[in-house]
Amino acid sequence: MTYLYNQNVFKIPRGTRDFTSQEMEKRRYIEEIMRTTFMSFGYNEIQTPTFETLELFKAKSGQEIMDELYYFKDKGNRDLALRPELTAPTIRFYVEKLQMEPKPLKLFYFGNCYRYDRPQKGRYREFKQAGCEIIGTDSPEANAELISLAYKILKNSGIKNLKLNIGNLTILSSVFNQLKITKDQQKYIIPLIDKSMFEEVIDALRDFGIENKDAENLVRFLKTTEIKFIKGFIEDDETKKELEKFETILTLLEKAFGIKDFKIQMNIVRGLDYYKGLVFEIETPKLGAEKQLCGGGEYDLISLFGGKDAPSAGFAIGFDRTIVALETENFNFPTKNIDVYVIPLTEDFIEKAIIIVQALREAGLTVDLDLLRRGIGKSLKYASSIKAKKAMIIGPDEIKQNSVTIRDMDTGEQKLIKIENIKNSIR
Ligand code: HAM
Repeated sequence: MTYLYNQNVFKIPRGTRDFTSQEMEKRRYIEEIMRTTFMSFGYNEIQTPTFETLELFKAKSGQEIMDELYYFKDKGNRDLALRPELTAPTIRFYVEKLQMEPKPLKLFYFGNCYRYDRPQKGRYREFKQAGCEIIGTDSPEANAELISLAYKILKNSGIKNLKLNIGNLTILSSVFNQLKITKDQQKYIIPLIDKSMFEEVIDALRDFGIENKDAENLVRFLKTTEIKFIKGFIEDDETKKELEKFETILTLLEKAFGIKDFKIQMNIVRGLDYYKGLVFEIETPKLGAEKQLCGGGEYDLISLFGGKDAPSAGFAIGFDRTIVALETENFNFPTKNIDVYVIPLTEDFIEKAIIIVQALREAGLTVDLDLLRRGIGKSLKYASSIKAKKAMIIGPDEIKQNSVTIRDMDTGEQKLIKIENIKNSIR
């Protein structure tokens, strides 16, 4: 075999990560907080497969998404793709099996996603999302609750620096139409708008033959943070209704859900192209280019996948970025240490030690045992390296008195404890 000479064969693929047990402990801790918060808002967890038909992701996003996708043919010649996100799979699941469920249907998920992105800190080719979808209502209170859930999950996780930005694509589209900016022209300027490159937007519009006054008006609209200003802009009745709903969402968010530190941002366009109506993003300024922690909004996918039309909205949080954000803020992750490390002094006491270990585990304690027969000195050193709270020594003197020695690993204090009292003494 030539394996020995090819150094890359046994290396981790670019953009993927291994997680140590310490990292897993942090991740499980945050995942549990997120799960509890989803459930406290009446959402229920689902799971979908890691790969889907390629068509599912191409249906709305078209050929452009192919650059970003991991796709392949299976042995039956089927075109499949690793999921880049979980909204399309969730709606596919809904259309296939959940349409008859009582509404509104509130679903949440955790899942690994795959994108052929250029890897850097906070951006990976395999990453995890925590997200949710609500199907069957587009009331302002449903939308306000959705935004407040996203915000609350990140707050509950412990992140201090959060920026919540809220926009609306229906209103933005109507402004494009008012200014007679064609679909093709929109396609060109949307990435510029997304990056707040307003000078370039004006230049592009001038090249398209749009009057300077109109181009500047558009940029003024994109930069505004005031509802009043937006109101002055909107002419058609449909959009006026959408704006009224937008205002109600913001009022509910502030007055009822108690979230005051959000900003209206009309230049949110979102990378994925299935959105309409409400859109929002949450970022944490300290993370630089990869600062976006959450994105979501209202969208249409159900009828595209053959279902009976129903309103839908959702969001996804970048799980890995949440962890990076917490680490950047020096968040104090709790650690779970071993309660007791048990050391039989010689072979003769192994059986007795195992019986005690098992009883303590049954009682809910976290217990480990010297499996290497390495003697008291080295065992105590090991107990201290795994940060055990207590060590238990079982030897001839102890057993003669039907007892064990319990050593506090912080203070070094030792006590002889009767076997029947061990549980209470350790607790
Ligand atoms: P998205 O904005 O594409 O939305 O992704 C959501 C979040 O996933 C981002 O804000 C970011 O934190 C994280 N993320 C994206 N790409 C990467 C990456 N390469 N590495 C690490 N983290 C990443 C969606 O996926 C929509 N499905 C959200 C949604 C749900 N809309 C409606 N319902």
